[in-house]
Amino acid sequence: MTTTTATTAVTGAVGTAHTRVEGRDKVTGAARYAGEIPFAGLAHGWLVPSTIARGRIRSVEVEPVLALPGVLAVLHHGNAPRVDADYVGMLGLPDPVVAVFQHDRVPFVGWPVALVVAETSEQAREAAEALVVQYDQEPHDVAFSADRPGTYTPDGADNRTEKGDLDAQLAASAHVVDAEYTTPEEHHSAMEPHAATARWDGGRLEVVDSNQGSTWVADELAKLFSLDLASVRVVSEHVGGAFGSKGLRVHQVLAVMAATVLDRPVRVVLTRRQLFSLVGYRSPTTQRMRLGADPDGRLRAFDHQAQSLSSSVYEFVEASAGYGRSMYAADAHHTVNRLVRLDVPTPTYVRAPGEAPGSFAVESALDELAEKCGMDPIALRVRNEPDVGPVSGLPFSSRNLLTCYEEGARRFGWADRDPRPGLRREGRWLLGTGTAAATFPVLVAPSTAAVTAEADGTYTVRITAADVGTGARTALTLIAADALDVATDRVRVRIADSDFGPAMIAGGSMGTRSWGWAITLAARGLREKLVPGGHIPPEGITVRSDTSDAIGALTQKERHSFGAQFAEVAVDVTSGEVRVRRMLGIFAAGRIVNPLTARSQLIGGMIWGLSMALHEEAVRDAASGGLVGPDLAGYHVATHADVPHIEADWVADPDADDPVGIKGIGEIGIVGAAAAVANAVWHATGVRHRALPIRPDRVLRAAAESGDATRA
Ligand code: MOS
Repeated sequence: MTTTTATTAVTGAVGTAHTRVEGRDKVTGAARYAGEIPFAGLAHGWLVPSTIARGRIRSVEVEPVLALPGVLAVLHHGNAPRVDADYVGMLGLPDPVVAVFQHDRVPFVGWPVALVVAETSEQAREAAEALVVQYDQEPHDVAFSADRPGTYTPDGADNRTEKGDLDAQLAASAHVVDAEYTTPEEHHSAMEPHAATARWDGGRLEVVDSNQGSTWVADELAKLFSLDLASVRVVSEHVGGAFGSKGLRVHQVLAVMAATVLDRPVRVVLTRRQLFSLVGYRSPTTQRMRLGADPDGRLRAFDHQAQSLSSSVYEFVEASAGYGRSMYAADAHHTVNRLVRLDVPTPTYVRAPGEAPGSFAVESALDELAEKCGMDPIALRVRNEPDVGPVSGLPFSSRNLLTCYEEGARRFGWADRDPRPGLRREGRWLLGTGTAAATFPVLVAPSTAAVTAEADGTYTVRITAADVGTGARTALTLIAADALDVATDRVRVRIADSDFGPAMIAGGSMGTRSWGWAITLAARGLREKLVPGGHIPPEGITVRSDTSDAIGALTQKERHSFGAQFAEVAVDVTSGEVRVRRMLGIFAAGRIVNPLTARSQLIGGMIWGLSMALHEEAVRDAASGGLVGPDLAGYHVATHADVPHIEADWVADPDADDPVGIKGIGEIGIVGAAAAVANAVWHATGVRHRALPIRPDRVLRAAAESGDATRA
């Protein structure tokens, strides 16, 4: 069922598998990333992070370091240029961490304290490691737990919804689940660390960066440094992963500051360890779920109380409790996101922010309810399928969750499943299967694009899109080819240059939909303007688009992608090891532009879900306030040996309001995946794991506590 309905295609490029247009450059090394583009006269900055979690900088002992070979400057709060961080950007106020070196206060371990700039990267590093910084240390508090002192509900309607009398509906329920789920601190850890080179060129600031949106970063830099947006250019040709971490971060700001002070190009590359404190992460969560149902599984009560943390300097909410608002109806439906502020770095958006941890709690609790009701977990979800938005009351633009379940159950072989846990053995392995649903919002944001008919018969598309590794550049090539009614090899798509004008970022699963819309409008405009057989001047004929009006005219609906996740696991209760044997995800996520890269994107999300279920966990040390082993040795992400056969596929689900039929597939692959694995572990062992990751020690402890079913 991989077919999609062609809504506008004439050439049929959309919906046909296409390898990445820049794929050859990437695999041959011809594609240059931000940290490896050569510049004449380049200097290198190396960041010095704080070693304390709270206090003040007493002194930065600059003189001995300035005497070291190649050192050009040491920037710190005593000498750095002033910036204006009191601005509102696309996501509101900036995290104060980007206003580097503006004061002597330290709010977490890893806070930027100084930048050493030298002729070579090695000299800068040597000097940065030799720099002595004295602190006045203060007591810190990094201990996160449910309902700990200081917990509050942040302002904003999005943080609390309440419909119906929860206590009354719980009391009237035949079956009740009341359980707490926890997820740990998780990190993006993009393969390519953040890197930027800044230089002044004839009064214009130029930044070569790795980001999710070049006009976004240009706009924030202009505001921070009080510059005209027209005098800032940011480019970001190739990006080795982002996942929410690559907006304005300290590396661009440090590079601009140093380039300004030294009047020469300066590059700043963050180290793997620095990423763990300076580019955001997913907050740990504690989530209390209360579900109440009639004997037939119909939900009377749905209560999701989520808690996350943020830093002392910025309020970021991991909005886990939003997940159930569009998924499951109940007579009483309450959700709340709570927060506690600690002496830790500021968390941020991480692939499927809110939905990833939220779906773990909700979809695990549903599995527990199915067990109590004696129902099949899919049948329970069918029973609770809503007609309209459970909280909003709005109609769905389309809701093909049950189609995903029908297709997924058939392909996974769900019908033969014995629901009883702890029964299937293969040597020392206990086997089980699990499922979970998935959803992610479908949004779109204004973008501009320009399409040029060139004199040689080709077409050039210019849009400030970002290809963060997803294949966006290729998807846009297919969309443009169809909109222009030409073959893909006559279309060249240029992206990631802020000079192309404002466009949505690669975020919120909104990139391809937002950019594709703008390209389609511009291409249609161009086709109307071109006279068949007419003359095209040397500079070509260009038509620009702006989707603001079209998007502003969209009616209010519940717009979402949906999915059904399945996992089979084997659990070795003698070692505590959990191996995922196979996963299947079936998604209803709009028209699929490029099946080749779309499948990779969805599988990548599912692998992260597997990784979230079994491996990923940053451990914060209470004494130092820092992380234990903040690198890819100490923070385990799923690698090849952890990942089994994974299949991702989709059902026809074109979005009627989008000119191409797109919904967006950036994030939904991770949603529900961890719950499917955890539910499979329960089915294998009979033990519920409500704390992620499901580590070997947790499996062993649970096995020891729970008796025969899990004993080897
Ligand atoms: Mo993504 S977490 O929306 O950049």
